[in-house]
Amino acid sequence: MTRAIVLGGSRGIGKAISESLKSIGCEVFAASKNDIDTSNMSSVKKFVEIHDQTDVLVLNTGGPVAKEFANITEDDWNLYHNQLFLGFCKILQNIKINEGGYIFLISSSVIKEPNSKLIISSAYRAAFSEVFKILSKSYAGKNISCINIAPGLINTDRTRELIENIKEYEKSLPMKRLGEPEEIGNFVKSIIQNNIKYLSGVVINFDGANSNYIF
Ligand SMILES: NC(=O)c1ccc[n+]([C@@H]2O[C@H](COP(=O)([O-])OP(=O)(O)OC[C@H]3O[C@@H](n4cnc5c(N)ncnc54)[C@H](OP(=O)(O)O)[C@@H]3O)[C@@H](O)[C@H]2O)c1
Repeated sequence: MTRAIVLGGSRGIGKAISESLKSIGCEVFAASKNDIDTSNMSSVKKFVEIHDQTDVLVLNTGGPVAKEFANITEDDWNLYHNQLFLGFCKILQNIKINEGGYIFLISSSVIKEPNSKLIISSAYRAAFSEVFKILSKSYAGKNISCINIAPGLINTDRTRELIENIKEYEKSLPMKRLGEPEEIGNFVKSIIQNNIKYLSGVVINFDGANSNYIF
């Protein structure tokens, strides 16, 4: 039995990953914001005291508000610094990943293609992606693989918050549709199920060919 902790596992991408892992017999703790609020360091501390070890960890959390640079307050910067950066660092410092395990980070396509309305997201997710990349080297020594999944637009509550007219927006996408969270769930499942270990320290653009960059 493989144990998994999926943060943000109550809805959207995290929930789809949780369901997918359960379907292959993993014992999954699918955390909601009530179990751990990654913007609140005392909530993070409490969580890691109870959940201090796992085989699979999915670092995932809610997305920040969409705001233009001029309107971002100091409180916004502090909140999302904790939510998207410091909380994840503290979690990695305190949860032991068992040898042969996996860590998946759910970041965003904005780490490679910054978006002026999602500047908070672009900034802190890119910063944490640097930390994750550096750590992938030492985790590799324990046969622990680190995969950064950078989604484009996925059919979840988050996208419904950000995009007003989804039907219209879909027409602009190469596949004429949003991605389904289950596609990410199935991707994570297949990596674990097939014991794929050498894919590590990488960013997977999960965007239905929407990005324009090659690397
Ligand atoms: N959907 C997309 O198109 C897309 C694209 C790129 C990146 N992303 C990013 O990928 C992540 C997951 O996206 P999603 O679409 O699955 O989001 P979602 O549908 O909004 O679900 C968010 C999940 O995170 C939890 N959560 C919210 N705030 C949290 C906090 N402060 N601390 C810990 N957990 C928290 C929620 O728990 P509750 O149920 O308790 O609220 C829920 O389980 C987000 O960071 C999002 O910004 C999404």
